[in-house]
Amino acid sequence: MPLILFASPKGGVGKTTLVANLAGALRRLGRAVLVLDLDPQNALRLHFGVPLQDGGGFMARLVQRPDWRAEQRATAAGIALLPHGALGLRDALEQAVALEREPGLLATPLREMLADPRLLVLADLPPGPSHALAVAAPLASLIVAVLRSEAISAAILGEIESGRFLGSGTMAAILAGRLQFVLNGVDLASSLSRAAAQAVAQHLGPRLLGAISRDEALGEALAQQRLVQELHPASAAAQDLQQIAQTLAALLPAPAEPPSSLAPPPFNPTPATFWGGR
Ligand SMILES: Nc1ncnc2c1ncn2[C@@H]1O[C@H](COP(=O)(O)OP(=O)(O)O)[C@@H](O)[C@H]1O
Ligand SMILES: [Mg+2]
Repeated sequence: MPLILFASPKGGVGKTTLVANLAGALRRLGRAVLVLDLDPQNALRLHFGVPLQDGGGFMARLVQRPDWRAEQRATAAGIALLPHGALGLRDALEQAVALEREPGLLATPLREMLADPRLLVLADLPPGPSHALAVAAPLASLIVAVLRSEAISAAILGEIESGRFLGSGTMAAILAGRLQFVLNGVDLASSLSRAAAQAVAQHLGPRLLGAISRDEALGEALAQQRLVQELHPASAAAQDLQQIAQTLAALLPAPAEPPSSLAPPPFNPTPATFWGGR
């Protein structure tokens, strides 16, 4: 089943928030979801109630070739979680060198995850280029670039669309064809925010998967280590996320049975939309 990466040139735009809560929204649509934290900040777990002092995780142990199945955490939201795990500076350097030498350390378990026909894998990435991005991007069906509405200008948008933040040369151009966008933090009460959002929507057309309102419900949910759909299901952000989940689900192969079943879904790709409409 598909791998969807969440990336951005800049940090603090809402990637981790989006991965966690979009996973929740997709779960509500009946999808079996695995969330994978590829960001050494190790923050994705905090949305799922993993205690702060619990520093265990898949990526942090990568050089020891852990079994990803054994590293999975079941969450109250019904989503499987692979935390990144806490890494000291020395271990982070060792991980980067190992991944550069042997991309299979990550590519092999990723391929195994994707071989499970029931699983939809959402991966949270650090901002900008990273070894994890270089390994995961060629395997991804879709790369979602998260944009912050107040920080967006036509010049920045062109740069992001080019995919240069995904790497360089021909590979970046290929990956750019799989880019879709989510605009985060839109404030409809602000005429500036509204105008910026409208300009982005007009420019991106169908490559804009959706927009998310600026909404304190997201921060409150994180503070309680829960998903916004559970805590504030009627909030603007929860509704926006549900809409994005529906748009995304329409681009993905549909599961044939309820998620409790082991039956594989039929393969029903829609390449034109799925590959960024290019
Ligand atoms: N739509 C939103 N409305 C309000 N706060 C948001 C929104 N999206 C994200 N945030 C907050 O912004 C901060 C950064 O989000 P985060 O998901 O950690 O970004 P990233 O993973 O890109 O670094 C968090 O405190 C999060 O709660
Ligand atoms: Mg993050």
